[in-house]
Amino acid sequence: MATLIKNGTIVTGTDLFKADLRIKDGTIRSIGPGLEHAGDVVVDATGRFVMPGGIDVHTHLDMPFMGARSTDDFETGTIAAAMGGTTSHIDFIVPVKGRPLQEALETWRGKAEGKAAIDYGFHLCIVEMTPSTLGELDAMLEDGITSFKLFTAYPGALMIDDGAIFTTLRWAADRGALIQVHAENGPAIAEIVDAMVAEGRTEPKYHGLSRPSALEGEATARVITLAGVAGAPLYIVHLTCREALEAVGKARKRGQRVYAETCPQYLYLSSDDMARPGFEGAKYVCTPPIRDKEHAPALWRGLAQGDILTVATDHCPFDYDGAKRMGEGDFRKIPSGLPGIETRMALLYHGVTENRISLTRFVDAVATKPAKLFGLYPRKGAIVPGADADIVLWDPERDYSLSHKDLHMRVDYSPYEGMTLKGGPDKVFIRGELVADNGRFLGKPGFGRYLHRDRFHPIEL
Ligand code: URP
Ligand code: ZN
Ligand code: ZN
Repeated sequence: MATLIKNGTIVTGTDLFKADLRIKDGTIRSIGPGLEHAGDVVVDATGRFVMPGGIDVHTHLDMPFMGARSTDDFETGTIAAAMGGTTSHIDFIVPVKGRPLQEALETWRGKAEGKAAIDYGFHLCIVEMTPSTLGELDAMLEDGITSFKLFTAYPGALMIDDGAIFTTLRWAADRGALIQVHAENGPAIAEIVDAMVAEGRTEPKYHGLSRPSALEGEATARVITLAGVAGAPLYIVHLTCREALEAVGKARKRGQRVYAETCPQYLYLSSDDMARPGFEGAKYVCTPPIRDKEHAPALWRGLAQGDILTVATDHCPFDYDGAKRMGEGDFRKIPSGLPGIETRMALLYHGVTENRISLTRFVDAVATKPAKLFGLYPRKGAIVPGADADIVLWDPERDYSLSHKDLHMRVDYSPYEGMTLKGGPDKVFIRGELVADNGRFLGKPGFGRYLHRDRFHPIEL
């Protein structure tokens, strides 16, 4: 049985046009005006934008971190994602030092298989460089893991030194692997943190104050330089500030292949939230931290102009009346991370309603560019015949206010509680199956398939 979506306005990363769309056997079959229905199930999309399903390329589901575990697993997190219009995600495998990388891949496969309700892929974090690491990375490429995250932050835990970063970049350069970097100057931050704690400055806001934006700018520029010398493309994850954006902009002007991602928390929240009275600021503790108010307008401009290509979530939820409380009296112990997998698309669409970005840039940032950068295009992120029928019917008129009570993420708060929005997903299809309809989840845990991703190639980026 085929499905015919009629009377909608198709929106892609570049275009907007009125057309009908036929889906069969999980893929898009035809697109055109006035398609005749031939025994199909007909879905009326009058007043809806018909767009590719969202792709969240930065999630941490069921992840052990800072003495806790992110509260959403692959079942709850991906159901929430689907409810928000996200039909694929890429999660980060975090290996245990001294153990084979293949073992870490098996662990993450075990977390996802039979549970994920949307399609999923993996990036791999590189947390040490041993004599066998590069060979193990070659094997990862064969498994469809083609992007790798390195940290200049979290010394003593995830951070690796510039030498190892450079080695990895050189390895990536001629293999079509994409290196992602969490860019902050970890050692300098560690020194500021120690000084603050010694002075008794332990409330949540000091998490932000101990990690100045200049140290994100410095690390971003440094890694861009290393990538330039290595001749490797580079993707900066969760970019938060003007200094880092400036470094990315300069590199792109020179013609260097540098791509940046930001997240809704850096567009809408500010350091004032981390300074809320009592311990409430802990709800806003993530790394890099949410910045002073003046950074967000620059990020919006970067998004509109294309120096920031993607919006992901860094979804890494911890309960406020749970793990976050471990850091009462010591901000260093607050598990770092925010929920967001469900609200990403609606929050970015809010930028369309406020004329900060265009409708096509919205689709581009949440679906098309993520697919192009991470080896999924045009199977995902595109409305073309042959693509997977991952489709969202977006209702631009829906008015509502955000509250964690109405959301599906397994966490006891929303950082955006009470924020009013216009526009949200009405119907969500994954490979032609209707998985969310007007606020009801109709999909199935385990329906999600592993995404064996292609290697990086710089198409229109
Ligand atoms: O606070 C965050 N971002 N937690 C997740 C780990 C990371 O650095 O992405
Ligand atoms: Zn990070
Ligand atoms: Zn992250």
